[in-house]
Amino acid sequence: MKKDIEKILISKDEIQRKIKELGAQISRDYKGKMPILIGILKGGVIFLVDLMHNINIPIEIEFLGVASYGSSTQSSGIIKLTKDCNYDISGRDIILVEDIIDTGLSLKYIMNLLKNKEPKSIKICVLLDKLEAHKQDIKIDYKGFTVPNKFIVGYGLDYKEKYRNLPFIGVLKKEIYQ
Ligand code: IMP
Ligand code: MG
Repeated sequence: MKKDIEKILISKDEIQRKIKELGAQISRDYKGKMPILIGILKGGVIFLVDLMHNINIPIEIEFLGVASYGSSTQSSGIIKLTKDCNYDISGRDIILVEDIIDTGLSLKYIMNLLKNKEPKSIKICVLLDKLEAHKQDIKIDYKGFTVPNKFIVGYGLDYKEKYRNLPFIGVLKKEIYQ
């Protein structure tokens, strides 16, 4: 797998250090509350698991599944719901946990879907932000790193379902997908 990576962008240690900070921040902000962390399948799950280990207040977890890339390296713009959240979240504080914001279309779709379920609040926590690629105005409440507008894999991010288990984030060699 490693031979398919052109460059490591964020090391395992850097990721873990940042997640510690994010977890501490969330623990402070939600003190006395019990938020529900909703992880977006599949890419956001690895981040959710590490993040929850760094939160020291009571929380619950849930999952929501969407797909937009198919087997391509570009967002299709068509979002498909692959797993709805059937848990009652009305009146609850929600933290959406996602691996990366690219165009922002997925998160916009998810926000609308969840708002209909009438939670008390929704905040967004993303590990990576492809700032240059946004097509939607989205307020990010907790953010790990800004990344360049390149196709990256590792730490949850895949190409055709592969590379999610790499412990770092790297740029995939173009020859793999061209
Ligand atoms: P968006 O709807 O364009 O913001 O795309 C968001 C989703 O696309 C993310 O949750 C990822 O699953 C996927 N994605 C975006 N950029 C990349 C990338 O560089 N590598 C792998 N997956 C990506
Ligand atoms: Mg995703």
